[in-house]
Amino acid sequence: MSKEQTPTPHIRAKYGEIAKTVIMSGDPLRARLMADKYLEDAVQFNDVRAMEGYTGTYKGKRVSVMGHGMGIPSIAIYSYELFNFYDVEQIVRVGTCGSFSENVPLGTILLAQGACTDSNYASQYNLPGQFSPLADYGLLRKTSDTAESRGLDFLVGNILSSDFFYDAGGRQKDWAAFGVLGVEMESFALYMNAAAVGKKALSILTVTDNLATGESQDSDQRRKGLGNAIELALDLL
Ligand code: HPA
Repeated sequence: MSKEQTPTPHIRAKYGEIAKTVIMSGDPLRARLMADKYLEDAVQFNDVRAMEGYTGTYKGKRVSVMGHGMGIPSIAIYSYELFNFYDVEQIVRVGTCGSFSENVPLGTILLAQGACTDSNYASQYNLPGQFSPLADYGLLRKTSDTAESRGLDFLVGNILSSDFFYDAGGRQKDWAAFGVLGVEMESFALYMNAAAVGKKALSILTVTDNLATGESQDSDQRRKGLGNAIELALDLL
């Protein structure tokens, strides 16, 4: 059933051209850089809307990398099509986030154990209550073990996937009182889409902005942080 739905309006790959594991980042150029730096024999499988995707091998293991754009609607489309039509088994998002506290400094890696949201995304399922989207425990545990063995500064916990980058209401920080460590814009939908079809997902985020202090990383620091996160993702293969 899935195969007949490929290619999709957003992904021109033929069925089989995408690996069972896809590492995704918001910026499609980051996907190209990942392919150039880490993959052998990378072949581009998507360019629709410039949302580049590549499949190759890393240490002999087949993997795909792809952009997912910004925000819940965008990652929801791509992750839905990958899970449901291309039979992808696991998606690891490598991204950035803002933190809510001085105790979560710039450069910290957040492994998003769960994701809260101010989006209405879950309403489509008509569940009789509130769903708590979670990372796959196996992916989370392995990544946290690897991060620990590398001596990286990392935390495991809850995050907020917000529909608002510019928070006019000023209420985002209210989530911090409930232990929410940081804010990005995608993981809730990724985890929910995975849960809906019994597949696996994890978001590995680096703190590029501290909303408590107003500090932000420069582009060199961001590149280094994302490099650590990408290497954690690749080690899951
Ligand atoms: N808000 C939402 N998403 C983000 C942020 C932020 O401050 N920083 C990086 N991604």
